[in-house]
Amino acid sequence: MTNLDDFVAVARTFDITPGKMLRVNAHGAWIVVANIENEYFAIADTCSHEDASLYKGVLKSGYIRCPLHGSRFDIKTGQPLEEPAEEPVDVYPVCVQDNVVYIGPPLHEDA
Ligand code: FES
Repeated sequence: MTNLDDFVAVARTFDITPGKMLRVNAHGAWIVVANIENEYFAIADTCSHEDASLYKGVLKSGYIRCPLHGSRFDIKTGQPLEEPAEEPVDVYPVCVQDNVVYIGPPLHEDA
């Protein structure tokens, strides 16, 4: 069993069906929780380019596309896949237990 001390419960699994996203507030930030083929991912909501909500973008297998200028971000690493965004966004570890989705503190690429 995973130690959930630093994790926060944000949703039930059936709140986020495959292909859907949910915007939640945890660890002092707005976070997009996405379900891709019943695997859950958590990525910062605010684009690293300008102040746009990735939650309002498009979720595809493996990435989320910013609604403002179209940069795609890798859903697992937060890395931008093309310009204009050049900086990554935070991603968060996700744990699912007993149909509850938990999010841990942000993972930083340089950590
Ligand atoms: S605000 Fe997201 S790509 Fe410009």
